[in-house]
Amino acid sequence: MLSPESAVTVRATLPVIAGAIQEITARFYDTMFADNPELLRDLFNRGNQANGEQRVALAGSIAAFATALVERPGELPGTMLSRIANKHASLGVTEEQYAVVHKYLFGAIVEVLGDAVTPEVAQAWDEVYWLMAETLIGLERDLYREAGRGWTRATVVERRDETADVASFLLRPDTPMSFRPGQYVSVQVTLPDGARQIRQYSLSNAPERGDWRITVKRVRGEDAPEGEVSAWLHEHVRAGDVLAVSAPFGDLTLPEGDGPLLLASAGIGVTPILSMLDHLAATGSSRRVMVVHADRSPDAHVHREELADLVAALPGATLHRWYEDLPPAQVGDAAHAADHVAAVGRADLSALDLPGDVVACLCGPLPFMRAVRAQLVELGVPASGIHYEVFGPDLWIAAA
Ligand SMILES: Cc1cc2nc3c(=O)[nH]c(=O)nc-3n(C[C@H](O)[C@H](O)[C@H](O)COP(=O)(O)OP(=O)(O)OC[C@H]3O[C@@H](n4cnc5c(N)ncnc54)[C@H](O)[C@@H]3O)c2cc1C
Ligand code: HEM
Repeated sequence: MLSPESAVTVRATLPVIAGAIQEITARFYDTMFADNPELLRDLFNRGNQANGEQRVALAGSIAAFATALVERPGELPGTMLSRIANKHASLGVTEEQYAVVHKYLFGAIVEVLGDAVTPEVAQAWDEVYWLMAETLIGLERDLYREAGRGWTRATVVERRDETADVASFLLRPDTPMSFRPGQYVSVQVTLPDGARQIRQYSLSNAPERGDWRITVKRVRGEDAPEGEVSAWLHEHVRAGDVLAVSAPFGDLTLPEGDGPLLLASAGIGVTPILSMLDHLAATGSSRRVMVVHADRSPDAHVHREELADLVAALPGATLHRWYEDLPPAQVGDAAHAADHVAAVGRADLSALDLPGDVVACLCGPLPFMRAVRAQLVELGVPASGIHYEVFGPDLWIAAA
């Protein structure tokens, strides 16, 4: 909780800080990386720095945290903090690094806002920073205790080219570790310029299988540069190679219990959903599960047959697919897009008979998840029953 004096100052200065936060975070990263180039080379995702997404996510999270502190004291934004802590833990962020971030963040605040940063203002925002940092440090400590920290060697026991743009890699970590269906690992690769860049990949099979499978979509450069790590994995990694991976982290995990589920994905976002379904099948679950998937076309739909087979193996599951392009012969009745019948267009949940206590897990591009979430809320699903994973910095927080 903020001290009463700081709460007054933070409330009064929130609009000024929020208005300048993008400029502040840009300055923060520029100065921190100028003095500590290894952080950009070997820890931060330089693609997300170049396209500005990480800046937006950081700014959004600080604004959301400060707003919660003054408007709903005692009620921290737990989902957001857990998401950040899991991402940090998968990257091996240390407690000591919070002082480094503090130094450059506050330097940037003073540089951007100048005389507006009186000693009281600095003191109040310092309190905000350390409240957030200490909460994250505590969560990260628990995650490290539970899952371990640092890099493990994993041998690629199989590579499969699933489509022209997607390959899956079956990994056998030197240290066997379990995970919860829906979690991801960080993969660290050394690129030709010597940078050790890190990316996250969801595990796309069940923990019961022992080996871990990741399914990687190559990010093609169209209007922007080609994705560095996905292209490197596609070009260089074959069976027998060894990768550096983190322990599994992530909090979009299969909801526990026997209640009904809606698992909705689009494109490569199917990976955590496959893990959940594979686990349900491996444990002989009869849970009611509605599986919704949207894609460009059946050919672009990665693990299409596997998804259908998993649904067929689950007595309580139904599959509902939508494709933007679908050959006329494969078009089903859009209002009843059920088992093995696909519909044309964007996912439309209005025809699904959603039970009142359904819990939803979403994964896919933001526009897809926004649209699905809006429909779910309209159909009466409480916001607390809707969980999601974003395959990049969480810009949803920032836009909220
Ligand atoms: C929790 C989580 C789970 C994930 N699971 C999966 C998964 O199962 N499968 C999967 O395929 N992916 C997954 N991802 C995404 C994955 O981590 C990578 O983000 C993805 O592979 C792209 O990485 P990259 O290095 O190839 O691209 P990057 O090099 O990071 O590029 C990212 C984007 O930035 C753009 N960019 C780069 N430089 C510039 C520039 N100078 N100006 C403008 N734009 C620029 C690129 O064009 C690209 O669009 C997941 C991500 C998260 C966070
Ligand atoms: C209170 C302090 C901090 C806040 C509020 C914060 C916030 C965030 C947020 C919001 C994200 C994006 C998470 C997501 O959407 O998945 C993130 C990612 C990240 N954070 Fe932090 N962070 C803090 C401290 C640190 C520290 C101390 C380090 C280490 C130097 C660090 C390194 C990273 C890295 C490397 C990423 C991933 C970047 C990327 O993938 O582009 N953060 N952080």
